[in-house]
Amino acid sequence: MCGIFAYLNYRVPRTRKEIFETLVKGLQRLEYRGYDSAGVAVDGPNSNERNSSICLVKKRGKVKALDEELYKQDSMDLEAELDTHFGIAHTRWATHGVPSAVNSHPHRSDKNNEFVVIHNGIITNYKELKKYLQIKGYEFESETDTEVIPKLIKYVFDNWESEYVSFSSLVERVIQQLEGAFALVFKSIHYPGEAIATRRGSPLLIGVRSKFDLSTEEIPITYNNSNFKNENNENDANRKQRLNSLTCLYSVGDLKAVEYYFASDASAIIEHTNKVIYLEDDDIAAVAEGKLSIHRMNRLAGDDSSRAIQTLQMEMQQIMKGNFKAFMQKEIFEQPESVVNTMRGRVCFENNTVILGGLKDHLKEIKRCRRLIVIGCGTSFHAAVATRQILEELTELPVMVELASDFLDRNTPVFRDDVCFFISQSGETADTLMALRYCKDRGALTVGVTNTVGSSICRETSCGIHINAGPEIGVASTKAYTSQFVAFVMFGLMMSEDRISLQKRRLEIISSLQALPGQIKAVLALDSKIKELADELYKQRSLLVMGRGFNYATCLEGALKIKEITYMHSEGILAGELKHGPLALIDKHMPVIMIIVRDACYTKCQNALQQVIARQGCPIIICSEDDPESMKNAYKTIEIPHTVDCLQGILSVIPLQLMSFHLAVLRGYDVDCPRNLAKSVTVE
Ligand code: M6R
Repeated sequence: MCGIFAYLNYRVPRTRKEIFETLVKGLQRLEYRGYDSAGVAVDGPNSNERNSSICLVKKRGKVKALDEELYKQDSMDLEAELDTHFGIAHTRWATHGVPSAVNSHPHRSDKNNEFVVIHNGIITNYKELKKYLQIKGYEFESETDTEVIPKLIKYVFDNWESEYVSFSSLVERVIQQLEGAFALVFKSIHYPGEAIATRRGSPLLIGVRSKFDLSTEEIPITYNNSNFKNENNENDANRKQRLNSLTCLYSVGDLKAVEYYFASDASAIIEHTNKVIYLEDDDIAAVAEGKLSIHRMNRLAGDDSSRAIQTLQMEMQQIMKGNFKAFMQKEIFEQPESVVNTMRGRVCFENNTVILGGLKDHLKEIKRCRRLIVIGCGTSFHAAVATRQILEELTELPVMVELASDFLDRNTPVFRDDVCFFISQSGETADTLMALRYCKDRGALTVGVTNTVGSSICRETSCGIHINAGPEIGVASTKAYTSQFVAFVMFGLMMSEDRISLQKRRLEIISSLQALPGQIKAVLALDSKIKELADELYKQRSLLVMGRGFNYATCLEGALKIKEITYMHSEGILAGELKHGPLALIDKHMPVIMIIVRDACYTKCQNALQQVIARQGCPIIICSEDDPESMKNAYKTIEIPHTVDCLQGILSVIPLQLMSFHLAVLRGYDVDCPRNLAKSVTVE
């Protein structure tokens, strides 16, 4: 959902061209969050300390289109060197208003661009605010919810009770009026070289690059306006004094030069610096005269919190495509390593133990609970479906799996003795986050299962598991699914450590986990065969995927991958339901993939196969390598290695990930940027 990137260079001379390049590169890294339009705001051609102007460039389409547009700006001297400058940039995923230049960000306060803002999230009370501002004479130009924000800040500025007001105080006043979710970055001609960033419910982090060693720095959080005394009628001397008295990163040391990067996720920052500060809800971060300060709305007395500068563990190559055609393809092929990273330091194959550090202090409480509820959306929900059976078996507890939106719609009863898991690759999905808050309010223990350290779900749950799959950039989730799968299996193993009756089963699963990376490699080696099958299928309009038991989730997940990036109709069908309706779809023209592996459902799946064949269907079968030759000779098959039943879904989903990738390429679609979608859905 929308990407925010902003760059402030303080006493670090950069040409305008370099600034454009930095902003555009930042947006390209975030493009997976939204890609229907993009825009930047930079200082105008003749800006200086006293006389500043802001130039806005916005364009419908991908960031590439914006990049081309930037170089058509005749008034801009690209070689001009700017000692201090603040530029903001945004890539959009439309929620309110069609994709167009006028609806794209930055949005502005007025025709002079006095205040401009970029926004990620949704303002739910924008209609009321818009009405109020229109009555006050403010003219709106877009259909977006965001536009109320720059108009509102101008209104507050125009009506401020005294001559001087700090940028930060204005923003604080504005966000007090906003309902919904937001990450915001502001720029203004009234505050040249200053930046304000704030968030509530949408992620935002700040990267810092300087010659100082930042490894042990902490930024104290200040209370509301306590550092902004005397702001009424402030003159230049007062202003200097105030800026010097800010609790700030560089209160010690000789601040000569510094660069700040603001972004909605770390992938846009890592190439510049690995030192970052994650903002929390209601933090207001201000940079003025090169100094960063953070203060907090509604801080309670005695709350002496601080924001630590953290070191990102991410590596550059993790966010580069390398030799792959798409991030999705790269991420599919990373799975032999990503599942190892999920298990690393947790599964000990020597003594067959599993310890999830993030849960161990809560284990007693979890074991005493009435039931487990696993809540997520999309692929993350499918990972819960995939592991439900083994969790029930190993924990001996009832396990409910829930789609977050439906769970909330039903006002599902939740009790203090429930344990609720929130599964999300991004850790920011709005529906899942809302469900988390709902369960928390009802006193349940909340457990996060995410791939994004520092995400909202991580921060708001009582404890959790990081799946450690590494950054997932392709909108279609692949390696996160298999790592989520492994994470839940590990949880089941940890819960069953002291159950004597389950030891044999546990050992079988643990040894199968050890073999998993090699087996994933063997499935990936089938890529060219799967491509050949895709060559035969890519012109079809529909594709059904059938299976049951441990492989039912694979059908749901495979069908989601196919519809999401190929735009073909695809449905995951529980083979047991075939004769209750879907069988009517089967004829010799309907493409079908069936998963038939040697597990407890084998005979029932064979029955389903017979029903399909009897209607002249000719399915492609995902089967086990050790299946009889007769099966392999009679059908088109994708033969995967055999593993323990509860892990088979990891191996059976990979051919469908590959199939969807090849189908999308053959149909000529952009695999990483499917239409109408974005990586992280931070609106309900
Ligand atoms: O970040 P999350 O795991 O919470 O995201 C949930 C879904 O939006 C996500 O899995 C979506 O279904 C994927 N694009 C599917 O590939």
